Amino acid sequence: MASVTSLAASVHQRVADALSAALPEAGSADPLLRRSDRADFQANGMLALAKKLKGNPRELATKVVAEIGENALFKEVEVSGPGFLNITITDRAITQTLAARADDDRLGVPLKENPGVTVIDYAQPNVAKEMHVGHLRSAVIGDALRHLLDFTGEQTIGRHHIGDWGTQFGMLIQYLIENPGELAPAADVDGEQAMSNLNRVYKASRAVFDTDEQFKERARKRVVALQSGDAETLDLWQRFVDESKVYFYSVFEKLDMEIRDDEIVGESAYNDMMTETARLLEESGVAVRSEGALVVFFDEIRGKDDQPVPLIVQKADGGFGYAASDLSAIRNRVFDLKATTLLYVVDVRQSLHFRMVFETARRAGWLSDDITAHNMGYGTVLGADGKPFKTRAGETVRLEDLLDEAAERATAVVREKGASIGLTEQEITENGAQVGIGAVKYADLSTSPSRDYKFDLDQMVSLNGDTSVYLQYAYARIRSIFRKAGDAAPAAHPELPLAPAERALGLHLDQFGETVAEAAEAYEPHKLAAYLYSLASLFTTFYDQCPVLKAEGGPDQIANRLFLCELTARTLHQGMALLGIRTPERL
Ligand code: ARG
Repeated sequence: MASVTSLAASVHQRVADALSAALPEAGSADPLLRRSDRADFQANGMLALAKKLKGNPRELATKVVAEIGENALFKEVEVSGPGFLNITITDRAITQTLAARADDDRLGVPLKENPGVTVIDYAQPNVAKEMHVGHLRSAVIGDALRHLLDFTGEQTIGRHHIGDWGTQFGMLIQYLIENPGELAPAADVDGEQAMSNLNRVYKASRAVFDTDEQFKERARKRVVALQSGDAETLDLWQRFVDESKVYFYSVFEKLDMEIRDDEIVGESAYNDMMTETARLLEESGVAVRSEGALVVFFDEIRGKDDQPVPLIVQKADGGFGYAASDLSAIRNRVFDLKATTLLYVVDVRQSLHFRMVFETARRAGWLSDDITAHNMGYGTVLGADGKPFKTRAGETVRLEDLLDEAAERATAVVREKGASIGLTEQEITENGAQVGIGAVKYADLSTSPSRDYKFDLDQMVSLNGDTSVYLQYAYARIRSIFRKAGDAAPAAHPELPLAPAERALGLHLDQFGETVAEAAEAYEPHKLAAYLYSLASLFTTFYDQCPVLKAEGGPDQIANRLFLCELTARTLHQGMALLGIRTPERL
């Protein structure tokens, strides 16, 4: 494991050094380096600096060039326009840097200097309820963030804060007591049956609950029995949880996502802490009694009529709700799990809830200044009509149906080409599933999480444009080059000159580490998606312009181009894996 300094970072360093040598009074000034179309890089920093010190920017730029002097990294540094530097680096430096990346399992991507512990709250469906597209986003974004953070060396702990507690369980359990045998033991069912059983029990119990006052009363008492830990009640509650887990796991499997049982720690898990949480808040004066309930007020948070909106820790009837479980979870995550960052991948519509919960925890001293709490609120999934995604009948779309349809459409796409490259029927369906689920994930991850996006399967499985299929085809194309390569093997040849398309591809490959670090740091998987899309596009251009196996320069050039191909494939594969997307070998 050796992290590799990127060319951009080396150039930045050299120009910064030259800048402070040329202008000692400026101290350490930022040369403002960026990629450029005219040369490889452009440095703009001399402009603002000269202005500030009332000097001439062109003169300053000329001095900087002199300070840079002769150097193996730079092919040409020229002053341009009002005082920019246009910087071209040598082909040798490009190939050598890429060779160092290729030598490393991690492609030279550095590890974080001071990694912490991030508890990431994501993929949190609700017991006895169908999963919908909102749960899809949390799962997909959370999974990608987790891969990204892990890859930078951060320690991550997953928490699937499932909705497995609350008053609705009184109704469900009471119904089951009065109608035994309605829920078969979980071991005997598959995910789909499990959900349809739960749906049936839910609907039936709801119907009685809404029409029978006496049942309603019995259901209410059942909630009390549940919260106080009555054995029979807990037993039946567990049955709902187990049945639901069968269903959750079947969906997560379709999503090609690994969910660990010990990380499914739902609202109920904090039940034993809730009384203490309330006591601590009341004793410290953070929460106050108001009309019998225990609440926290915030000056800045006001609702309609400018009335303060309180966070309810405990209801007047003594019951605890969503906020109490989240507050208790914070105590657990900070004091027991030793989290330094709490990350919540939860719908932006819950952002007010989290603002209040975080503020309460700060006032209580559970969140200190060195602990970051962040709600990665994500936007809504929209239908083609631009409204929240619903079926024609106006119902929420079942997640499994949607994933199945994506796999089906993708399989049709794979089949079309698959015949000509001799894919077996089994490979077609396997790849189809990987392409379909990848398409769904990529569409989600390639937009900024805070934005809404349209769920459009036709666009998602399209071979052209910014889709995962396009990236997967680029990867498969490279693999196919290697199948045809015979004895030719990849090897870096720094002595060879590079064609423009090779330089562009190489410089982009070199940016992988910085892109990963930035995407992880800012929780922005879409930056990585955008990087990978550019990578695939640059590869396509390279492939069109630079013959690989028939390179005119002979065996060394063939080897060097294969080397570029291989590094591209590895980068695509690694980058897609960080997004939770597979790259089939043959498409
Ligand atoms: N189960 C909730 C829902 O479906 C999401 C839970 C989010 N996590 C949390 N710690 N509150 O809306």
